[in-house]
Amino acid sequence: MQMTKQGKVLVFDSGMGGLTIAREIRAMAPQLSVVYAADNGFFPYGNKSDDDLQARLPQLARALVGAVQPDVFVIACNTASTLALQAVRDVLDIPVVGTVPAIKPAVALSATKTIGLLATPGTLRRKYTAELVNTHAADAQIIMHGSVELVHMAEAQAAGEPVALEVFRRLIDPLFAADVSARMDTIVLACTHFPLIRGELAAAIPRPISFVDSGEAIARQTLRCLPQQSGGTGQAAELWVTSPLDPSDRLAEVCRRFGFAKVKQLEPSV
Ligand code: DGL
Repeated sequence: MQMTKQGKVLVFDSGMGGLTIAREIRAMAPQLSVVYAADNGFFPYGNKSDDDLQARLPQLARALVGAVQPDVFVIACNTASTLALQAVRDVLDIPVVGTVPAIKPAVALSATKTIGLLATPGTLRRKYTAELVNTHAADAQIIMHGSVELVHMAEAQAAGEPVALEVFRRLIDPLFAADVSARMDTIVLACTHFPLIRGELAAAIPRPISFVDSGEAIARQTLRCLPQQSGGTGQAAELWVTSPLDPSDRLAEVCRRFGFAKVKQLEPSV
């Protein structure tokens, strides 16, 4: 039933990470029109202050939705959603889907109930994240590590600028430093950039561990939120940016590879 829904979905992130969510939405519902938006003018979000993001996100969401006119707005970013999901909902009159760390499915999957949480420092310090842990993982051990450098490395690797395995190893190693890490059997990829480098992370860790992300759940929730009757069909293929983008820029290149080839800049730039 949901598979036949039509409509236009706007998927938003700071950079390339949301492409991992757009990919899941397209895989589940190829008939939808999907538009991508990247806040390249303010990337990365993971090291920005809460005040700066709180001031920016609702205003930017409203401007993007005004320009694109989607049926659903997807915040394909844990750093933004855990801070400003409600504030964005408050300024929009369409459904807003947020992306938050997949702690509940990780607890269900983990045999040892010892779970790594790999995110940006912003996501890790959020009250929202603490509440997710309290609600779904009160009896589990959660080992947290935040890295903005890993976000940058994900963008480089995705753009075909190979990053040495040693670098990924150094960036993920802190998850393995605690005594309880020996029991860790599941890692939550709580930043949408990280599924871009799932293979590299798997190769960099000292032993096989399951990775969990929110992509499929977000795609399902997006479909649920689409009204039964709504507009456009087919691939919209647009990439909206907040700052001028040279076609040779790696964001432009990677987005093109994911099918978002027609670059449009939000005016006035925010
Ligand atoms: N992709 C974003 C997330 O899911 C954050 C990356 C950034 O720091 O901008 O958290």
